[in-house]
Amino acid sequence: MRMHFKMALLGAILFVGALALVGCNGGKNQTNIELIQDMMDQRALKSQKWDALRNKPEEMVPPAHTVPIGFTPYPYHNNPLEAEAKLVNPYAGDKFQSTLKRGKDRFDIYCSPCHGFDAKGDGTVAQFMPLKPPNLMSEMTRKFKDGRIYHIITDGQGLMQPYNTQIYKDSDRWAIVNYVRYLQSKTPVQ
Ligand code: HEC
Repeated sequence: MRMHFKMALLGAILFVGALALVGCNGGKNQTNIELIQDMMDQRALKSQKWDALRNKPEEMVPPAHTVPIGFTPYPYHNNPLEAEAKLVNPYAGDKFQSTLKRGKDRFDIYCSPCHGFDAKGDGTVAQFMPLKPPNLMSEMTRKFKDGRIYHIITDGQGLMQPYNTQIYKDSDRWAIVNYVRYLQSKTPVQ
């Protein structure tokens, strides 16, 4: 019995000693003593790396036909007319005014390089484009319903790429739509 007690005591002392050893990192900026080395030495994964061979973990792409959790597919892909008929701007009316600040902020970042800060098609990048981005103050764009402009942001149109991944929040797309409407309201038809 006494023997067992001594053994246990010795065990406890060794255990505490080992803990102290692991916990002690020999002062600042020194490497820890590594008992389980795999936990510290790992391959650094770079999320931007991609390789068609897909033979390294960070280069794997999601399996075909899978979607991230919470993803809702856009139902009007390649269907601007149905989008225009069915999409209703939830930020029209009372909420219109409150979205303009955000709308201007997002428009200036994502749309102005091509369409210009006043949406007249004269952004800084436009001068280098053989086919100019349209003036959104035109009669034609004014006649689009809000849903059509939302659709163009989400799904693109012709030469214009979709901005659904950059402007991923529904509310931000509608805020941009509202800001375009605001610009139209204070600019003569062009
Ligand atoms: C890289 C340049 C570029 C950017 C950035 C861009 N657009 Fe466009 N946009 C275009 C071009 C080019 C067209 C004409 C596309 C076509 O019909 O072939 C166009 C067309 C449009 C149209 C249709 C106008 C019409 O009368 O047919 C709308 C509305 C529009 N863009 C809104 C936006 C909004 C809102 C943003 C920001 C989220 C944006 N665009 C960002 C280049 C751009």
